[in-house]
Amino acid sequence: MSDQKEKFKVQPRGALVGCIRVPGDKSISHRSIMLGSLAEGVTHVSGFLEGEDSLATLNAFRAMGVRIERPGEGAVVIYGVGMRGLTQPGNPLDLGNSGTSMRLMAGLLAAQSFDVTLTGDASLSKRPMRRVTQPLKVMGAVIDTVSDGMPPLFIHGGHSLAGAHYDMPVASAQVKSSLLLAGLYAQGKTSVMEPAPTRDHTERMLGGFGYEVVRAGNVISLEGGGRLTSTNIDVPGDISSAAFFLVGAAIAPGSDLLIEHVGVNPTRTGIITILKQMGADITLLNERDVGGEPVADIRVKYSLLRGINIPESEVPLAIDEFPALFIAAACADGTTVLTGAEELRVKESDRIQAMADGLAVLGVDAQSQQDGIIIKGGEYKGGVVESRGDHRIAMSFAIAALRASGEISIKECDNVRTSFPGFVSLANSVGLSVGTGD
Ligand code: S3P
Repeated sequence: MSDQKEKFKVQPRGALVGCIRVPGDKSISHRSIMLGSLAEGVTHVSGFLEGEDSLATLNAFRAMGVRIERPGEGAVVIYGVGMRGLTQPGNPLDLGNSGTSMRLMAGLLAAQSFDVTLTGDASLSKRPMRRVTQPLKVMGAVIDTVSDGMPPLFIHGGHSLAGAHYDMPVASAQVKSSLLLAGLYAQGKTSVMEPAPTRDHTERMLGGFGYEVVRAGNVISLEGGGRLTSTNIDVPGDISSAAFFLVGAAIAPGSDLLIEHVGVNPTRTGIITILKQMGADITLLNERDVGGEPVADIRVKYSLLRGINIPESEVPLAIDEFPALFIAAACADGTTVLTGAEELRVKESDRIQAMADGLAVLGVDAQSQQDGIIIKGGEYKGGVVESRGDHRIAMSFAIAALRASGEISIKECDNVRTSFPGFVSLANSVGLSVGTGD
């Protein structure tokens, strides 16, 4: 995205020491707005991620007539309008960079009485939407896309939906959630089979709003026609944001970092499993339940890492953390091999290629494969890398500097704000040395 100006310049070496909190979980923040809006009563959210992605969802529901207040940092009050209370927005809903907003809202809006158009930025406009529009059509939804199933989505209202069963070809929480949200409005039962476990925040939060969701083996189902009752939501820190600090402290000699109040839902902790298999020194402390989601403080200390074959079963459980994990692999002793991760090619950027190209600039031997990557660990230098406007690529190369022999300069970092506002100051407060500029 050529309109992105911000550059990170990160000085080499250093250690991460101290105690931090990372911003709220992005997935849970999106869902709190969606379900809070459809509930009866007032929902209070704390720890909400004030990043551009979740704010895009918040603004979209405001545009559909929901009163949503933001009384303080991370605090959101949603005056629910009930299942049938949304009103037609005056304009297309611009969801920015956020694939989660578009895919989940496609399901939720397919059942409304009004037409609505969903648009996004250049990156979102290239992301595949057929994975949701096709099964939604089977349920009776009428959604047009431009050629190749890309956004904008033109959703035609006034169609009643019928529950259906869907065997998901890829393990995707976004697809599962989209169908379950449509299923709230459908006649009868909607069920989704997931080929591997994916994040289950939608199911957990629906339960919190008093809506019954049944899991039988790998099939998740619900009956349409129920209602949601308002609740209070305490959003834990996002493990996907903590990931940069987990890897940073694991690779930088002398590091000892405590990250407090991180969501450790077992459908999200692949990064911890993988880093531990590589030899990382990670301890979960003070494990507790916060509003139906597991939370812990995570302590990570530097240790020698070794390359591994990443088990394919961990891929959906660490799907957003691979850019950071590739940096861990670049610092490990030996070779790390990732397979079964073709999905990385259709995220905010083609994350396999973006990382392989950036690692090559630093002198790391990284071979991209169609469904993964092979990385040989060792010493590496500094250089100028392209983030391709992808927040997670930008932050991954920022922490890579902890082991580089020269400065790493990263282009197009504006989108770090989509998921991690305050990344630069938080990182600098514990020992990274990031400067910004045009
Ligand atoms: C998300 C699910 C994941 C993840 C995305 C957020 C969600 O996508 O990559 O950042 O909130 O449901 P897929 O489920 O499509 O892999």
